[in-house]
Amino acid sequence: MTDAVLSFVHRFEPATRQDVAPLLLLHGTGGDENDLIPLGDMIAPGAALLSPRGKVLEGGMPRFFRRLREGVFDEDDVRARAAELAAFIAEARAAYGLAAPIAVGFSNGANIAAALLLTQPKVLAGAILIRAMVPLAVPPAADLAGKRVLLLSGATDPIVPENNAVRLAGQLRAAGADLDHRTLPAGHGLSQGDLTLARAWLQASGRAAA
Ligand code: MLT
Repeated sequence: MTDAVLSFVHRFEPATRQDVAPLLLLHGTGGDENDLIPLGDMIAPGAALLSPRGKVLEGGMPRFFRRLREGVFDEDDVRARAAELAAFIAEARAAYGLAAPIAVGFSNGANIAAALLLTQPKVLAGAILIRAMVPLAVPPAADLAGKRVLLLSGATDPIVPENNAVRLAGQLRAAGADLDHRTLPAGHGLSQGDLTLARAWLQASGRAAA
């Protein structure tokens, strides 16, 4: 299938199994739409994969929203970019005939996925947030009742302090999300443990092939 022309540059891999939820793959700073395709294939074999490229450039590096410096976000831009990404997801669902996706975000991609959950709570079926931090100091009141979210933090992450990840977990739980927060013996980078936990979490939700 040729990728449709939509509002984000993206890559789409159709499902080879119909009983598996589609994944929305959101890369980290400096990544692109190709980065997380292998991860998607590993954690949810046969799932449709929708992978947009962030539109914000920081020194030529794609991101999903503007930041003032590392860990300090332009929150107006976070809100606007989350709305823009929600519109893309609706377009892509119509173009490719997809159910609501489960987001799988890494670093900056995990932060926009968290912002999507908190500002556009109907858009995602669930989310795996790898090394996410608080995207909005005071999020709006969102209803995430029963929505499953896996938050994977790194015990020695130099970018996301432990109390920040705990604060994000609190925001998601307060909105009603069914949150599983795990801290791995890892830094900011992806580890084998992330893949193992993400795959098991998807299987437990009945959203990925065993
Ligand atoms: C962000 O800017 O979203 C976080 O600092 C993570 C990163 O992209 O380095």
